[in-house]
Parts: sequence; structure tokens; C-alpha cells
Amino acid sequence: MSGGPHSFATPLTELTGVRHPLVQTGMGWVAGPRLVSATAEAGALGILAGATMTTGQLRSAVREVASRTDAPFGVNIRADAGDAEERVRILVEEGVRVASFALAPSRELIARLKDAGVVVIPSIGARRHAEKVAAWGADAVVVQGGEGGGHTGSVATSVLLPQVVDAVDIPVVAAGGFHDGRGLVAALAYGAAGIAMGTRFLLTSDSTVPEAVKARYLAARVQDVTVTTKVDGLPHRMLRTELVDGLERSGRAAALLRAVRHAAAFRRESGMSWGAMLRDGLAMRHGKQLSWSQVLLAANTPMMLRASMVDGRPDLGVMASGQVAGLIGDLPSCAELVDRVMAEARATLGTLPTDARLPESPRDPRS
Ligand SMILES: Cc1cc2nc3c(=O)[nH]c(=O)nc-3n(C[C@H](O)[C@H](O)[C@H](O)COP(=O)(O)O)c2cc1C
Repeated sequence: MSGGPHSFATPLTELTGVRHPLVQTGMGWVAGPRLVSATAEAGALGILAGATMTTGQLRSAVREVASRTDAPFGVNIRADAGDAEERVRILVEEGVRVASFALAPSRELIARLKDAGVVVIPSIGARRHAEKVAAWGADAVVVQGGEGGGHTGSVATSVLLPQVVDAVDIPVVAAGGFHDGRGLVAALAYGAAGIAMGTRFLLTSDSTVPEAVKARYLAARVQDVTVTTKVDGLPHRMLRTELVDGLERSGRAAALLRAVRHAAAFRRESGMSWGAMLRDGLAMRHGKQLSWSQVLLAANTPMMLRASMVDGRPDLGVMASGQVAGLIGDLPSCAELVDRVMAEARATLGTLPTDARLPESPRDPRS
């Protein structure tokens, strides 16, 4: 496939077959067929948010994307979901190009996908997780620094990225805090194979997030983006709202009560049985040493995200967001965004000092 005037070939474009080293991440309730197919048509790697879909919804969403574009795309699934194997089977049967994972997938899941020719790219937030999935055969990793939206760690991209690049031999895609072509060039300079953006793709005209909610993001300053553990017990980066401030003040009993209510609603919405939810909860407990109350709280995230991202009710839900929301002020289409980022990257490369312009360097003999 031709890359166009601004495209850069990197190990990411070679691995996945997309034109540009840009990824639109699998944001729950946000990265649906419309956003993913628009991203794919623009020449970047769109990732469908599979974790917040039932298996039936996942299969039909994959088919919908495939009906809208011939370009490659990916699907994000939760590695610790009780039905992860069934989801992997759907990806294989439907011929999906890339499997993305929130959290590290097992060695067996990686092997099954690779045997079927699916490219495996887990998202990780710490060096040791990158080393583990690389040893298990992952094709590449997305590393998310602490400034990124949604569940996030505390180490900034500028520290985590070079740390992971130095630790593993597979391509590393940088995430957390990127929105433009300067960021792409910086990430490539650190040794990344490309960048993955969540918040930036949420804020496009192709994203189905209600306009009033997009307006809240556009109005946000960097200081309006905060991290709370009060939604599900894990650090979660989002826009600060009255609701979030209220959660921060609320006690343990109120949080648990809310979690029970949301768990019931999530079960109805996702079509899961209580047994399956319990199995998922147990898997999470084993994987991450969560307390039972945290397991219960886990059902909060998808429900509260949905209230904002689908129902347009930020008074009832949360707006997961990277700090970069404070730098974003427009809603381009995915095609405009991708073209712009690639053109900026090209222009940025032209502005970097050359040896000849560095004060200490010897004169260029040709000048
Ligand atoms: C609204 C929203 C929902 C998200 N949902 C998920 C998810 O379901 N699974 C996942 O792996 N990451 C999720 N993330 C994290 C993103 O995939 C991505 O890693 C992050 O947004 C990158 O940082 P940035 O926002 O600074 O670009 C979400 C992020 C946002 C903003």
C-alpha cells in the first residue's frame, strides 16, 4: 500500500500493514465501528473497543467495520475476562488483523492468536509487563505513560518509554499525552515505532461521543484532568467534575453501595450471568490481588463511562481523559487529524538542528 507524501515506514506499519505509524486506541464505549472504520480509511490503525461489548455485539461490530473498509484494524479485549478465549476465537474467525489487550494476555492466548496469523499488541504500563509479554511472543507493545487517559500508572511517558524501548526487542508504541506531529517525532526519537492516541481520537467529528460531552473535553484545561481511585479502586485519569469531587469525598460504605448498584446494571447491560461476573471477578482477584470490594467496584467503570460516552450524562458518569485534553481545542475528522499529524511530523523533522547549525560543531566542509 502506498504511504502518501507524509507517511513514515516503521516496524509498526510493516507489522500491521497500515500506512501511518498512528494508532487510535480501543476506548470503551468510544471506539465503535464508525470511529474505527474512519481511522482505518485514514490510514492509521483503528482499534475497536471490545471489552465493553457482549460477544454477539463484538462479532457484529467487527463485521460492520469490515463492511466499511478494506484496511486493517484491531480489536481490544480484556485479557482477564472469563470469556477471553471465546473472544479470541471471534477475532480469528473474522480475520481481524490485530489483537490489542488491556493488561497482559496469557502465553496461551498469545500463541493461539499468532498461530492464526493475528498480530498481538498488548497495552502495558510498566517495564516488567513489557518484558513478560515480549518473552511470551507478543509482536509489539503499546506503553502508556501516566499522563494517559483511563486506567493509568504514575510514571510519565518521557520516562517509561525509553525504559521499555531499552528493555525489549519488539516494536514499542508510545501512548499517553500525544496529540500532534511533534509528539510523533519525539516518540520516534525515543526509539518508538509510532504513537497511540486515545483522547485525541475521542475528540474527532467521527467519534460518536455526544457533542455536549465533547464540548466538556474541549473546554477542559490541563489542571481539570485528575486521577481518582474512587471509581473502581484503581488509578483512573478523567475530567474533574462535581461528581468526581463528590466521589473523592465519599466514604467506603457509599462507594460499595454504588458498586453493587452498578454491578447489577452492568450485568443486565452486558448480558453476563452472575456466575460469569463472579468468575471474571475471581480472575481479576488472582491476577492483581484485588480485594473483593475492588472486584465489585470494577463494574463501576464500564457503567460510569457509558453514562457519559453513550448517554451524554456526565452528571451520572465519568469522562476518562488524558491530560492532553487541556491542549486540544478542535474536532477534526479522522482523515484531517491523521493528515495533519503526519504533515506536522514531516515539518518538525525539517526544523531540527543539523550538525552544521549546532554552535560547537565544526564547520560543514561543503558550506
Ligand atoms: C474515554 C476513554 C476510554 C478508555 N477505555 C479503554 C479501554 O476500554 N481499554 C483500554 O485498554 N484502554 C482504554 N483507555 C485508555 C486508552 O486506550 C489509551 O491508552 C489512552 O487514552 C492513551 O492516552 P491519551 O488519552 O493521552 O492519548 C481509555 C481512554 C479513554 C480516554
